[in-house]
Amino acid sequence: MQPKIVTLYVNGHTHQVALAPNVTLLQALRDLGYTDVKNGCEKGDCGACAVLLNGQPVNSCLVLAWQAERAEIVTDAGLGTIDHPHPLQEAFADAGAVQCGYCTPGFIIAAKALLDRVPHPTEDQIREALSGNLCRCTGYGQIVEAVQMAAEKMRGDKETRGQGDRETRRQGAGRTRFGRIDGSGGGRPEGGGR
Ligand code: FES
Ligand code: FES
Repeated sequence: MQPKIVTLYVNGHTHQVALAPNVTLLQALRDLGYTDVKNGCEKGDCGACAVLLNGQPVNSCLVLAWQAERAEIVTDAGLGTIDHPHPLQEAFADAGAVQCGYCTPGFIIAAKALLDRVPHPTEDQIREALSGNLCRCTGYGQIVEAVQMAAEKMRGDKETRGQGDRETRRQGAGRTRFGRIDGSGGGRPEGGGR
């Protein structure tokens, strides 16, 4: 079969590339410069190549790029930046869960998928969710600890956001476009005038 132009949505960017039908998503992503997606075994054994495909973790070495056409693909680099790391990325660094780092993006993707589903996972659930990922350097204790730390932080952030939202709603209660119905807004249109 001839190559065809495939549209890939990766980390919020759109790419159109000519790809042969046997090109894996792993190869396509790395050729596009997403080298945070690691090539470990190319046969589904190590999890180093994991990405989120429409929110589900997959080993990109087992997915053909054609199959990922128009799906939303998120790699580890799409979760955060050096200046604004994702809580998981921060926790992996803080817990000493990274040595050579080759396995880390895959672990973070697997952990992200878990925490999206289960915000308060048990240790067994974490170990099960990460069971498809291999690390030859760090050992798994610090990795599990990192996921627990991130889960706690993400739950805390959510609660703080929830409190903020409730406070905003409470303050906003009784407001109209022209101010508060109790008259304390002075009756001037919000955002208007000056
Ligand atoms: S490179 Fe895909 S699972 Fe190892
Ligand atoms: S940190 Fe080296 S393979 Fe996991």
